[in-house]
Amino acid sequence: MRKMARLALFTDTAQGIAAGFPGAVAIEARKFPDGEIYLRIPEDCKGKDVLVLHRCYPEINENLIKLFQITAAVKAQSPKSLRIFVPYLPYARMDKMVKEGEAISADIVCGILKSLGCTELITVDCHFIKEGAGTFERAGLKIKNLTAADALLAHLKPKAPGAVVASPDAGASYMSSRAEGGQSMKKVRADYDAGSSSAYRKIEKLEAGFDVKGKDVIIIDDMVSTGSTMIKAVRVLKEAGAKSVHCATTHGLFLNDALAKLKAAGAGEVACTDSIQSTAAKISVAKLLSGAL
Ligand code: R5P
Repeated sequence: MRKMARLALFTDTAQGIAAGFPGAVAIEARKFPDGEIYLRIPEDCKGKDVLVLHRCYPEINENLIKLFQITAAVKAQSPKSLRIFVPYLPYARMDKMVKEGEAISADIVCGILKSLGCTELITVDCHFIKEGAGTFERAGLKIKNLTAADALLAHLKPKAPGAVVASPDAGASYMSSRAEGGQSMKKVRADYDAGSSSAYRKIEKLEAGFDVKGKDVIIIDDMVSTGSTMIKAVRVLKEAGAKSVHCATTHGLFLNDALAKLKAAGAGEVACTDSIQSTAAKISVAKLLSGAL
């Protein structure tokens, strides 16, 4: 039987993921003195099914440029196909124009990857998809979205077997609905602070709307960024009489010491994937990827 011409390539940010792909080849990257990135694909890609493994976090802007360079450099060698695995896709938040003149960053990133020759982007719980696992399209780019919801819930369930599973807002209800009787809290954000350079919208209101008195609760969300959503959700549920509140999230950015703040707010275990490296990472995105290829 003829051997399939497959090639896995990985960047320095994806070393742990590449460990699950024996024979994966490291992409060469260096810095010019002015900060620009020199990038080279050290392996012939012609006619091969190429899989690129790359984390775009931290340093999202630099890692995106690197991703664009990789895509173009692989494509220039005429691969048979080029799939790219980026477990946490940056710029996925701005997926629609709310105010005239706003950049729809999700379209920009996807459009560039498509135009550079990416055959399929594989990602995990992509913020703009909000539907769980499946194949989608954005700006002409084919996207395979994986979800960590089941793996996260399976990890936390033994700690609280009869727990009520809830998302902190409607956007992540596709995750809580993986559990029987899954609930969704109601969240309202304010507008951007006038005059502030920070694109952050405070949470105006967060309420449960379902009974948690004396119950264990697992909150599940696609990402914990500043942690304000998850921290507030823990407080609200505790004040409503929840016995315990465990937290699950696919992408644990935990900015501004959010992990410690979650614990201080009364959270039990906090679990996330290693899409972003963190001490709370319990679920391997390499495993999710292997199961989906
Ligand atoms: C919102 O739509 C997301 O699902 C998360 O709830 C949100 O982005 C988390 O951000 P933060 O941790 O800053 O509240």
